Amino acid sequence: MKDYEALSKKHFDGQAAEYDQRDTYYYSQNGKISCRDIAERIKGVPYETLLDVGCGTGFLIDLMAKRKPAKYCGVDLSDEMIRVAKGKAIPGAEFVVGSADKLPYPDETFDIVTCSQSFHHYPYPEKAMREALRVLKPGGLYILSDTGLGGIGGWIDNHILFKLMSSGDCHTTDRKGIAKMMEKTGFTIADSRQIKGMIYTVTGKK
Ligand SMILES: C[S@@+](CC[C@H](N)C(=O)[O-])C[C@H]1O[C@@H](n2cnc3c(N)ncnc32)[C@H](O)[C@@H]1O
Repeated sequence: MKDYEALSKKHFDGQAAEYDQRDTYYYSQNGKISCRDIAERIKGVPYETLLDVGCGTGFLIDLMAKRKPAKYCGVDLSDEMIRVAKGKAIPGAEFVVGSADKLPYPDETFDIVTCSQSFHHYPYPEKAMREALRVLKPGGLYILSDTGLGGIGGWIDNHILFKLMSSGDCHTTDRKGIAKMMEKTGFTIADSRQIKGMIYTVTGKK
């Protein structure tokens, strides 16, 4: 298997400086759509601690911190993404370099765990989902937004297209597939919606 984490890190280290400004498909466009939808899903949900996995430049945490003071943590593989996020000096926010597969937090730390446009990069998605479940408090929410296809389009992406790419994309999963994976991991599905084209958000409750 390719070293997808090394590819993602190289790719996003290279994009970090321009990521927020370049509002195109291959930069922050889908991320902004997903982050804004996740923020909508959180409206009215009480929380004190939120973790964003694959946080990139901290766009979602910045959005949330402007709405509500809380403890915000962001984890990302890319040192350069984390450097840009830290540079924003967001009140209440801590950013660390790390992998979704091995979150550097104790069990039952967070009220909400989010993941925007990052899950399709994870070489071991089931492991990453189990990590989200582990660090969530009982009753906490896992809100995952991503771009993905099922059926023949998904098969072509997963078996042909992604093998040729060097951006660290390694598997596409559609909304139903993510909901199934969440249920298998131990979440109860609280909400599932297609936002725009292939972009969806699924919310699981621990
Ligand atoms: C398309 S960007 C999305 C960034 C941000 N969440 C957003 O929506 O704007 C994907 C991010 O996932 C990170 N990433 C990829 N694989 C990862 C992994 N295994 N663990 C943690 N972060 C990862 C990348 O470094 C990158 O910053």
